[in-house]
Amino acid sequence: MVYVASENRYEAGGMVYRRCGRSGLKLPVVSLGLWHNFGGVDVYENARAMLRRAFDLGVTHFDLANNYGPPAGSAEETLGKVMAQDLAPYRDELIISSKAGYWMWNGPYGEWGSRKYLIASLDQSLKRMGLDYVDIFYSHRPDPETPLEETMGALDAIVRSGRALYVGISNYSPEQTRRAAEILADLGTPCLIHQPSYSMFNRWVEDGLLDVLEEKGIGAICFSPLAQGLLTNRYLGGEIPDDSRAAKPHGFLRPSHVTDEKLAKVRALKQIADARGQTMAQLALAWVLRHPIVTSALVGASRPAQIEDSVGVAANLAFSDEELAAIETILSEEA
Ligand SMILES: NC(=O)c1ccc[n+]([C@@H]2O[C@H](COP(=O)([O-])OP(=O)(O)OC[C@H]3O[C@@H](n4cnc5c(N)ncnc54)[C@H](OP(=O)(O)O)[C@@H]3O)[C@@H](O)[C@H]2O)c1
Repeated sequence: MVYVASENRYEAGGMVYRRCGRSGLKLPVVSLGLWHNFGGVDVYENARAMLRRAFDLGVTHFDLANNYGPPAGSAEETLGKVMAQDLAPYRDELIISSKAGYWMWNGPYGEWGSRKYLIASLDQSLKRMGLDYVDIFYSHRPDPETPLEETMGALDAIVRSGRALYVGISNYSPEQTRRAAEILADLGTPCLIHQPSYSMFNRWVEDGLLDVLEEKGIGAICFSPLAQGLLTNRYLGGEIPDDSRAAKPHGFLRPSHVTDEKLAKVRALKQIADARGQTMAQLALAWVLRHPIVTSALVGASRPAQIEDSVGVAANLAFSDEELAAIETILSEEA
């Protein structure tokens, strides 16, 4: 059957789109990342169903990196296959990102932040995805040895060559972000976006990064806003489900991260979610989105129903002061 996207995908009352920093680009408040569950080890038809369902629900942004899989590179191949089968007619409605920074191939040019690595890696990514360009290309992590001028110069060259429309950085500290933004501004290619981790359980961005982003007009897209599934109902049954990330040998969430202390907090938070008429996942997403500089919450998923649930956050993004204070109390409580 030929895929035809839902006619209702941009209907009022559904997805909300926010401007990314001081740019012309809007992103959905929920974007979908392909880090887990889209690799060669995963079921292709499930990955395809998730991408189609997400797009039908107004999720116009899919986030990748060269090394997503496993094996590394295979998530980009999956995206390429779904583009060819289903989504190619909608290319101009999609924001597709990729990154380079972590280890991808052997030898001195297969990781970090040199011009050699970034440009070669993006060329490989474009081939795997069957695309002429990505919408956003990121330096995936700061490189302590390569001059920042070289890494930012490579991003600028990538935009000028037509391989990417916008550029971003990920995992850069507030100070590195400030410098990167200044170098890029001097080159004439603004830094569109920063991709940091941020969730109720991981709040490092509140310590300076969000201020720098606001000052420089850079949007934030926060990864692992559900703490890889901890901030959902996934682990509230008292066991680690066999099909969960924590149970997977290649999952980045280890069973040891699923602690009684964390689960007690999630149970308490869930009462606030219930009172708001939201699921736990929706509460966790609304909470990162409470900052206006946070353009999008970048979720993962292992099945279409999770995407449907997460997208539902768009219906209730507002918090009362009392709710925020109650959340703060739960998060700051010692075990
Ligand atoms: N820039 C970087 O360095 C970096 C690093 C990490 C991630 N990222 C990006 O961020 C994306 C998201 O990261 P993440 O996957 O860790 O995000 P996450 O949204 O915190 O976690 C996703 C996991 O949570 C569970 N889940 C999702 N929605 C749910 C729902 N509604 N109800 C119950 N459980 C739900 C699923 O776990 P189960 O699989 O157990 O079902 C899913 O795999 C990645 O795909 C990638 O694009 C970037």
